[in-house]
Amino acid sequence: MERLPEKIRKILGPTPFERDGIGMSGAEIRLYPEAVLKIARDDDTARREADILAWLRGRLPVPEVLACAREGGRQYLLMTRLPGTMLCHSAVIGDAANVARLLARALEMVNSVNISDCPYMAGLDVELAVARGHVERGEVDVENTDPATFAPGGFRDPEHLLTWLEENRPREEAAFTHGDMCLPNVFTENGAISGFLDLGGAGVGDPYRDYAIARRSLRDNTDGHHGHASPGFDADALFKYLGITPDREKIRYFALLDELF
Ligand SMILES: Nc1ncnc2c1ncn2[C@@H]1O[C@H](COP(=O)(O)OP(=O)(O)O)[C@@H](O)[C@H]1O
Ligand SMILES: [Mg+2]
Repeated sequence: MERLPEKIRKILGPTPFERDGIGMSGAEIRLYPEAVLKIARDDDTARREADILAWLRGRLPVPEVLACAREGGRQYLLMTRLPGTMLCHSAVIGDAANVARLLARALEMVNSVNISDCPYMAGLDVELAVARGHVERGEVDVENTDPATFAPGGFRDPEHLLTWLEENRPREEAAFTHGDMCLPNVFTENGAISGFLDLGGAGVGDPYRDYAIARRSLRDNTDGHHGHASPGFDADALFKYLGITPDREKIRYFALLDELF
């Protein structure tokens, strides 16, 4: 087994842990009784995640950073374990309307963080540049996109999609955004939101960034795509709980942008 950095090993000692297989990023997650160790490639997103978690303390319920070390091209982020369970947990997802209500509440909490002294930027200037890097380095996982995105009638390839996104930028609003507002990254306990995770892409951006990803994740977790199906449930219920009439063009734009991440 891989040797942990000294600083982290000193805190954890020989405590037994479980592995968690839910993340998509390739990070290794070790669940300890009261802490979680996230071992990820030491890149910009990983570094930002540790910094943003610290900045968000007192502003949103997020894990507290207990220690962070960088060694051998990896970042070891040791944080407190969030109370509750993921919104996609089998004990929660069965009541899809309740999950939609909680997800709307989560969006309101995130989007109302005061941005006046937020140093993290995630508007389209930044996001399209990051997306361009992914496309140019061939890092877009086309297998893991919506089947209609790269299909006849859709986009030829990631480069084609990126060009379209660059040429069709919507007018942007500014709010604090999570950046990956999917069900596994939001926790609930006793009918309320108990915390947020996976904040490496968070920052000031358009709230539709979060609306688009949240809606798609709610759909994929209730239509059988990830196993569970709630027949007759429509993921647009999210907007009813948010109390908004969604701008469909912006939902589509930000869902497409996320295909390049
Ligand atoms: N601090 C934490 N408290 C509780 N569960 C966690 C914590 N960090 C990670 N997890 C669990 O591990 C999963 C993957 O972690 P996450 O940071 O979202 O990694 P990824 O970037 O791979 O999605 C989460 O969905 C959650 O179930
Ligand atoms: Mg995650």
